[in-house]
Amino acid sequence: MPTTHAEDRAVLSDHGLALDAGTPETWTALAADVLRGLTAEEKHLPPKWFYDAHGSALFDEICQQPEYYPTRAETALLEAQGAEIAAAFPARELVELGSGSSTKTPLLLAPLRAAGRLERYVQVDVSASAMAAAERRLTEAFPGLTVERRILDFTTQLAHLGRAPQGGRMVALLGSTIGNLEPVEVQAFLEQLRAQLGPDDTLLLGTDLVKAKADLVAAYNDAAGVTAQFNRNVLRVLNRELDADFNIHAFDHEAIWNPDLERIETRLRARGAQQARVRSLSLDVSFRDGEAIFTEISRKFRRETVAELYAAAGFELSGWFETNGVYALSLARPV
Ligand code: AVJ
Repeated sequence: MPTTHAEDRAVLSDHGLALDAGTPETWTALAADVLRGLTAEEKHLPPKWFYDAHGSALFDEICQQPEYYPTRAETALLEAQGAEIAAAFPARELVELGSGSSTKTPLLLAPLRAAGRLERYVQVDVSASAMAAAERRLTEAFPGLTVERRILDFTTQLAHLGRAPQGGRMVALLGSTIGNLEPVEVQAFLEQLRAQLGPDDTLLLGTDLVKAKADLVAAYNDAAGVTAQFNRNVLRVLNRELDADFNIHAFDHEAIWNPDLERIETRLRARGAQQARVRSLSLDVSFRDGEAIFTEISRKFRRETVAELYAAAGFELSGWFETNGVYALSLARPV
């Protein structure tokens, strides 16, 4: 089996691209996705491969851009409604899926702590290093709180989470991360999660909302071009991890609004006919002028669509907190 260079592996493992970061499984998962995605009629790559060290830094920079409103909207919502959310569900345990560096988590931990029952915070992510730093920070900020981490990919390995010993568990999926998933993946994820939750547990979900097209499109086409760099970074990851030779500057960033599917679709478009070789896979990929690689979907939601998703997976919508048409947090409980 081809292997990556030790140094590249360190980068991969440090920022946990997927699964058990840095293990052969990670490399194999990337290789399989690339082989499948770049030999398909419509070329595509899953968005999880954006997030190596450089990609994670670029995403943080996206969150600072004036056009990219979701992070600020969610933060404001947690600040304004955290106490009400904690009152509606004074959890004993908070489990955060895709917790990353847990930047927004204190906004939830503080009101849950104040509500009086919170004992434990469990971070779930594929990046061990981000979680270790967060663990130190949160243990200091919340004396007496038990902080645990689970390294797993919540879209496929949720079964490893295990049930909460006494119930009163809140599972949070913030940042509109769920918008990256195709409808079938959302359904599968919610069903898996439902199977892990008891009657005294709840889901807290962050969802970006359908709004004026101009605002949506601008958020994924920032003037400074950070999202474009983020998008192209996936080719950088392939060049490094799979010994490929994509000319990343020969691909244009494109993010358009699909009104039928209510989602932003992000692609990389080849400027001019070209070829790339993925040496580790002995794969030659050719592009026609203007041919695209589909790299990301960001679904936008409505209150009704969220309620329907819940109902289809055995949940019911039990709380809705919204910043006037921009962004929503919702609570769902098992039925
Ligand atoms: C982290 C997946 C929620 O879709 O808005 C930001 C990622 N991509 N700009 C999103 C992203 C381009 C982001 N999520």
